[in-house]
Amino acid sequence: MHTSKFWKNHFQDNLTKERIDWNIPPTLTEKEQKNILYSLKAWQLGETSEGKHLLAAAAKHAKKINDLAYIDAVKLFIKEEQKHGSNLGRYIDLIGEERTKQDWGDSLFRKIRYFNTSMEVWTITVIIVESAAQVFYQALHDASECLLLKSICKDILIDEAHHIKFQNERLYRIFNQKSFYKKAFSVGWYGLLFFGTIHAIWFGHKKALRAGGINKKEFMRQMYYKFFNSLKYCHSNSGSPTNLEAHRVTV
Ligand SMILES: [Fe+2]
Ligand SMILES: [Fe+2]
Repeated sequence: MHTSKFWKNHFQDNLTKERIDWNIPPTLTEKEQKNILYSLKAWQLGETSEGKHLLAAAAKHAKKINDLAYIDAVKLFIKEEQKHGSNLGRYIDLIGEERTKQDWGDSLFRKIRYFNTSMEVWTITVIIVESAAQVFYQALHDASECLLLKSICKDILIDEAHHIKFQNERLYRIFNQKSFYKKAFSVGWYGLLFFGTIHAIWFGHKKALRAGGINKKEFMRQMYYKFFNSLKYCHSNSGSPTNLEAHRVTV
């Protein structure tokens, strides 16, 4: 379990790391483009959120628990997500495509975020989406031979492993304030939210996921594995950090 100050330092330091070599020219083939372009654009849009509502919920939560450094950590976390959006956007520009301005998945997620002021709902939602991001960006990495796209995906995968850890630790703190019965109730609705979200993501992005070698069975397996790991962490005794999940980047 790390302090907010630790996470603030981590994000600050990570933002200074430039892991992408923009001198590599994009080499996305027409076939690869057909498979991944829709999802690439949709995830690019999803990564560009201003994060105003998340920040409002984080500020309310931080004041309640008297940990103001958490607000700075969340601000930097949002900045890192925007960095993903900006890198993916730069790639879309480089291959001569238009960035998308609207996507049904993004609109739905934005609506949920708009009405949500609970840090618990935020945290579990982000954990589910970040877990899907790990599977998606690995598939995107594997779906093309383009070295530039691969290096953008690798950079995101490195960041996302830390994001899950950051959010798992937050959920641990929130979850362990609850009584036994409230915990049981929470696990129930976390499960429903998880079940709905993974099906929406599979439905929206199956073409790109399949192109990256992930079929429905494998997507669901990986998602359940990650979800149960997050739940297991919440129920652990000491809140000691589980290992950062290794990102399976092979190139
Ligand atoms: Fe991201
Ligand atoms: Fe993330």
